[in-house]
Amino acid sequence: MPLQLSHMSEADIPEFVEVDDLAMGRYAYAKAMVTEGQCRKELIRGFMRVGFKQDDSNMWVKVVDTQTNELIAAAMWKFHLEAGQPIEQETPQQTAEVKNDHVQENPSDKTSNFWAEGEKRSKKFKAKFVGSQAHADLSILFTHPQHQRRGAASMLIKWGCDQADKRGIISTLHASSEGYHLYLKHGFELVEETAIDLRSWSVNETTIRRAMIRQPKKVI
Ligand SMILES: CC(C)(COP(=O)(O)OP(=O)(O)OC[C@H]1O[C@@H](n2cnc3c(N)ncnc32)[C@H](O)[C@@H]1OP(=O)(O)O)[C@@H](O)C(=O)NCCC(=O)NCCS
Repeated sequence: MPLQLSHMSEADIPEFVEVDDLAMGRYAYAKAMVTEGQCRKELIRGFMRVGFKQDDSNMWVKVVDTQTNELIAAAMWKFHLEAGQPIEQETPQQTAEVKNDHVQENPSDKTSNFWAEGEKRSKKFKAKFVGSQAHADLSILFTHPQHQRRGAASMLIKWGCDQADKRGIISTLHASSEGYHLYLKHGFELVEETAIDLRSWSVNETTIRRAMIRQPKKVI
């Protein structure tokens, strides 16, 4: 089989950064994360240095083309497995930002404000639709532009949904416009749409973030 899914290791980080840049670089919401003069690769490399942690709650998975050995797609599923416990709101990206020296020196920095706004939205979404129940959150997903429409993202989505089904827990995500229809195909349902004006982060666009939830399927 040409495409193979496996867990990521730290050795995959440089390739992850390159493919992320190609896939996400042109996406308005991703552009807003970057401060003037900063390149996305630098930001993501810094985030991965701090935020990459492969454990039961952070599952980093990749798809490799076995003919070339190239990493062509990757995802991060975050599993909040303890029902009834306060929901951890901090995403790995936010952890990285908080630990980023630049942000610590400039607390009013645009990037830190971008994450703070994102955290507020995430808290609101979870308070309204998730509560304290256990859930799996698809936090990161991208496919190399030259390898899209080969089913790589579908493999990564299905992998996480299967994990959620085994545990009988819901899956959550915030969809980009590109990912939205794919998520519908995998059983996610739209629960809320939010228009985000990105002009405060020097991107002259309004982006729509779609909060989606998938109910677990019974595993027979
Ligand atoms: C959204 C994204 C991750 C999808 O990645 P992908 O690997 O192309 O996804 P898939 O190949 O699984 O599915 C894409 C389409 O190809 C189709 N497809 C899947 N396997 C296929 C195959 N072997 N041959 C032809 N088409 C196929 C799917 O049915 C799907 O069709 P649709 O567009 O009608 O829904 C990718 O476009 C991307 O990285 N975009 C930029 C970043 C982004 O928006 N990420 C999501 C953040 S929430």
